[in-house]
This record gives sequence, structure tokens and C-alpha cells, in this order.
Amino acid sequence: MAVCHFFVVLAILNAVFCNEYSDNETVIMYVNKVGPYFNPHETYHYYQLPVCRPKKIEHKSLTLGEVLDGDRMALSMYSINYKSDVAIKELCRVTFQEDDLQLLRDAIEDLYYFEFVLDEIPIRGFIGHLEEGGFLPHTHKVFLWAHLSFNIEYNGKHIIYANVSTKEKEPVNLDDVTAPLEVAFTYSVKWHSTDLKFEQRGQRMRDNRFFPKTLEIHWLSIINSMVLVFLLIGFVVIILRKKVRTILAEA
Ligand SMILES: *[C@@H]1O[C@H](CO)[C@@H](O)[C@H](O)[C@H]1NC(C)=O
Ligand SMILES: *[C@@H]1O[C@H](CO)[C@@H](O)[C@H](O)[C@H]1NC(C)=O
Repeated sequence: MAVCHFFVVLAILNAVFCNEYSDNETVIMYVNKVGPYFNPHETYHYYQLPVCRPKKIEHKSLTLGEVLDGDRMALSMYSINYKSDVAIKELCRVTFQEDDLQLLRDAIEDLYYFEFVLDEIPIRGFIGHLEEGGFLPHTHKVFLWAHLSFNIEYNGKHIIYANVSTKEKEPVNLDDVTAPLEVAFTYSVKWHSTDLKFEQRGQRMRDNRFFPKTLEIHWLSIINSMVLVFLLIGFVVIILRKKVRTILAEA
């Protein structure tokens, strides 16, 4: 990986040489941001939540693009080695106090997602899960995902795609618990071989978007603009009619 820095200017060579891994080489997982799913511009650092964090938090130096994107990458505690699967392993145990529990409940109610970054691939999932049931009586339950299963697709020496699934283990119910509550956070890693080429990984990511397509947002803003245009035309017509009437009355 040291050789990478020589190729930074030559973007193509950079892509070919720098994202190469040999078997069992350490693959760094960065934790990045968290925020409400329906407001992607509001983001916080992942370590602002009461989660597993290293004793000393080390931040990654970011490129300008990443800074403008609101990125705040820091080293995670996940230990991931190229092409070596990890069966369910404990990451750490966290003891939640009452304010931690409240923070998590609020984040889950606001549908907070998290974003990690592995080999420049964003990996996104939800912090927890809301269960709304019954109409009368209405039930409302808040769950925390304490286990993350990472899936990583590779081809030869390259990582092509990665995602996370939270549903492999039952989540922790945060409703009727009292602080202090100790929760064990766990993870697992599964490597899948794929035929997709390194050049196709951008496409692979676009095909699996986490955020809704922006198309609907475009439609909303078009309707919004049309309503505004009709209102303005309406005002102009009303004003003109008044003017015409006064002119006719004077004549
Ligand atoms: C992979 O590397 C880790 C340490 O980085 C080591 O503990 C493990 O035994 C290695 N596995 C293999 C199959 O070489
Ligand atoms: C995550 O990736 C794995 C392996 O490629 C795939 O089987 C799975 O369907 C993916 N999950 C989601 C939610 O996209």
C-alpha cells in the first residue's frame, strides 16, 4: 500500500494499485457519520452515539470532497482481514446509562442510519428498528441492532462491493429497560467471490442505493413550482381585473 502515494496523480494507476489486497491483509473499516434517514444533510459523528469506540479516536485525514460531504471518518474497532470470514465475534460491551438510553431511543425514533467506509465503499444501515403495532391499543416499540453482519464481495485482489445486514440476530428492546444496561455489540464478516470487474464497482454501488432515488424529490419540487406559478398568475389576473374595472368605471 505504501506505493500508492506515488500514483496519486495518475488516477487510473492509483485505482489499479492502491486498492489491491493480498490474502489476510488488514482491511481498514472507518466509522463515519450518523443522521436521520429523511434528512441526509443533518449528520453527526458516529462516535457521538454510545457505541463501541477505541480508547483513542484516530481520525482519517480527509480530501476536500469528503469534507464537503460532511464526512468525519475515524478508525473503527472492527478487525477485518482480506478474504477471511469472521464468525460472530464480540466487538465490545457498553453499559448504557439513562441518558445513553434516551439518546439511542431518540435516534431510533428519528430513523437514524449509520455510515461506515470500507475501501472507499460506503456501508449504510439503520441504528435500530421501530415497531408500530395495533390501532387500539396502539403499541410502539424501540429496538437497537447490536449485531452487524458485513458482506464483502471480492474479485482477485480487489474489493468490489460491501454491505451490512442487521437482521441476523434479534435486536435489543429498549422500552422497558432500566439503566445501567449492559449490551454486547457483535459482528461477523462474510466474503463472497464475484465475477464483477473492479471497473464495475461504481455501477454495483449505484444499483444498490440506500437513499431513495432523487426522482420523487424532483417531482415534488416541480409540483411545488407549478402551484407557485398558478398562484402568481391568479394574483396578477385579480389585480388586472380590478384595474380594468376601475378604468372602465372612469370611462
Ligand atoms: C490473519 O491475520 C491475523 C492477524 O492480522 C492472524 O491472527 C490470523 O491468524 C491470520 N490468518 C491466516 C489464515 O493467516
Ligand atoms: C449484501 O451483499 C450480499 C453479498 O453480495 C447479498 O447476498 C445481499 O443480498 C446483500 N444485502 C442487501 C441488503 O443488499
